[in-house]
Amino acid sequence: MKKKKPVKFRESVGIDIGSHSVKIVHLKRLHEGFKLLNYEIRPTVPQGVEYVPSDLRPERFAPIIVEMMKTLHIVPKTVKHLVTAIGGDNTSIKQIKTIFLPDDELESALFFEAKKHIPISGNDMVLDYQVLSVEEKTNNMNILLAASTKDILNEHSNILVSAGLSPNIVDLDSLAIANSFALNTFVEDGVYVLLNLGAHRTNMIIWGPNSKLFSRDIPYGGYHFTRDIMRKRQLEFPEADTYKLEWGLLDDPNAASTTTISMLDISEKSTEDLIVEEIRRSLRFYVKEAGNSDFRKIYLMGGTAKLKGLLEFIQDKVNIPTEIYMPFVNIEMPEKFQDKKDPQLSLAIGLAMRTE
Ligand SMILES: Nc1ncnc2c1ncn2[C@@H]1O[C@H](COP(=O)(O)OP(=O)(O)OP(=O)(O)O)[C@@H](O)[C@H]1O
Ligand SMILES: [Mg+2]
Repeated sequence: MKKKKPVKFRESVGIDIGSHSVKIVHLKRLHEGFKLLNYEIRPTVPQGVEYVPSDLRPERFAPIIVEMMKTLHIVPKTVKHLVTAIGGDNTSIKQIKTIFLPDDELESALFFEAKKHIPISGNDMVLDYQVLSVEEKTNNMNILLAASTKDILNEHSNILVSAGLSPNIVDLDSLAIANSFALNTFVEDGVYVLLNLGAHRTNMIIWGPNSKLFSRDIPYGGYHFTRDIMRKRQLEFPEADTYKLEWGLLDDPNAASTTTISMLDISEKSTEDLIVEEIRRSLRFYVKEAGNSDFRKIYLMGGTAKLKGLLEFIQDKVNIPTEIYMPFVNIEMPEKFQDKKDPQLSLAIGLAMRTE
């Protein structure tokens, strides 16, 4: 009889803890690929409430995660394969090239190297790395550095422990997005732009299977679109937020056309313009750094990817075909989930699909 390949875990849970919402995805591992068992998205602030992330306490997350796990019928103690992510200020990924070094010298050399490339003070830095390739001709190594701080990791672990979970694999959000894309999208060539549009920031990753990885955060997200609507349509935050969810960048055909922008406000750029500017600037930088301008597609994910009119706006202004990204290629979706492919789940799914 043929022996079955050992499967390290049967079920996995991916949790994406965002400043606005927590996203949990529960997957079952199949022989090939995964099956979606369940998922949930829950805001951590009531809809329509204006907030600044730094004003919110990390303590708010654990009770929400506990509630979500209950709804999903997952007993935290039984979760064997948990993958979560950290991100934001003081986290960073960078692809670098070094001369070939044997394993025992690599780590200390990279720590030294990372200090030059990554703006995190040396003593607090927690470093991880991945050797991507060794170039045949030169013997140089292409290495991906991922750095964070002890404080950020501790705060993250505390949230999970308070929710009764044991922290297991903690990824950097931008790296998780790049990995999920690499796993789910069968592209052979070209360069792709991935945008994870959240509430207060957007992770931007530029990557190609044969090209360099670049990543940075743009300080704009759904919150800034609501602010624009307040200004443009003279609404308070809660009404502007409701308008945003329904109409996004579009005009509500039923609204009275009395909403005018005052002269003073015209000089202020809209969030969609600012985002496009940031994309263009990063693309220019990428061409210079990586010597590759073969941009094939822009993929949008995150809650703000659902903003009506945004995809078309970006596609039109940046002039690269743009799509919503869903990492569902290898996931069996039971009938009841078929119409709920929500890009706000993309990162959580990518996390749950991590196999090691
Ligand atoms: N249908 C929709 N249309 C427009 N915006 C939406 C829609 N649904 C959710 N959003 C917005 O998406 C944002 C939340 O998305 P997401 O969960 O990806 O953010 P987050 O991960 O909590 O934030 P961050 O990554 O910035 O910490 C909010 O600003 C919310 O208003
Ligand atoms: Mg997010």
